[in-house]
Amino acid sequence: MAQRTPFLGGNWKMNTTPATALELAAAVATKARAFPRVDVAIYPPFPFLQATVAVVAGGALVGGQDCSSEIAGAFTGQTSAGMLADLGCTSVLIGHSERRHGLGETDAVLSKKLGRAIDAGLVPVLCVGETLVEREAGNTHEIIGLQLRGALAGHSAEAMSRLVVAYEPVWAIGTGRTATPDDAAEAHRTVHRTLGVLYDVRFSERVRVIYGGSVNAKNAADLFSREEIDGGLVGGASLQAADFAAIIDAASLRA
Ligand code: PGA
Repeated sequence: MAQRTPFLGGNWKMNTTPATALELAAAVATKARAFPRVDVAIYPPFPFLQATVAVVAGGALVGGQDCSSEIAGAFTGQTSAGMLADLGCTSVLIGHSERRHGLGETDAVLSKKLGRAIDAGLVPVLCVGETLVEREAGNTHEIIGLQLRGALAGHSAEAMSRLVVAYEPVWAIGTGRTATPDDAAEAHRTVHRTLGVLYDVRFSERVRVIYGGSVNAKNAADLFSREEIDGGLVGGASLQAADFAAIIDAASLRA
């Protein structure tokens, strides 16, 4: 089994209320404290971050679902990586498909965001993955390579030492369709191979590559049993404390 610490993120997207966010955060933190060998992270909506950080009190990483590619200035509606860090956040999602495909974020923009996240001291979780059309055209591995090369352009191995990569096939997100463990493992090998070429093999072996796309309490253990799958980025199932707790259990089997 790989010596990488399992990483499990809960991406709450645009869900929860002030009350349910704190309740869920408290439950996740209690569970996560019992599993210090798993890096557990939650990504609540921006307005709830500060209160969530306080409730979690270091029991888990708390991060933004996005950050700006800019440092400060006239960027209405955006949140900088520095602001996230000032709130006590320790991580950030970069390039989630709902931003790449929903909002047209390019690899060039994501590369800048990655730099901002690193400068702010955050653990960046860079999301990559192909659409159904790209998969059916046989381009899965090419797309993963292109997205990694685009986002990592200009960033040194040293700067990227905390990088986590989330492989999230777009067709599996929120659809109930999960990639098979074999498919996911193959894509993860492509991520590692690409990182090995961009940097070197030692660097690549240290980077955690997690799977996202309809991970749930039932399929998590099967996915995480593969050596290549260092954990998960979980959307829908991270909104139920009991389900997410079961997924933490599944990730802990790797630790
Ligand atoms: P899902 O979302 O688990 O609801 O498919 C995963 C994600 O978007 O990160």
